[in-house]
Amino acid sequence: MIRVRFVRADGTVREAAGCEGARLLDVAQADGQPLEGTCNGDMACATCHVVVAAEDIDRLPPPSEEEEDLLDLVPAATRTSRLACQIRLTAALDGMTVRVPG
Ligand code: FES
Repeated sequence: MIRVRFVRADGTVREAAGCEGARLLDVAQADGQPLEGTCNGDMACATCHVVVAAEDIDRLPPPSEEEEDLLDLVPAATRTSRLACQIRLTAALDGMTVRVPG
């Protein structure tokens, strides 16, 4: 299992785990994190926006152009923002920290 730490807007920290290949969005939702994921991964909603910890961002493959374009429309987006529906868990991501804007 790949472990992920979710930090909520209110400061609550929870550690969840998902199988290799699972989408970060699905792992977050299974853990009860407030990510709507309205379009279910079609890159049409950005309600799955998360902010990856700066020290972990380089462990992720870079975003596609489509993902970057959608993130550009998110007012709260930061340099390490990603769409949780586009992130697949791999061993390289074990223990990463992700902030859920809420
Ligand atoms: Fe809609 Fe990720 S779930 S963009």
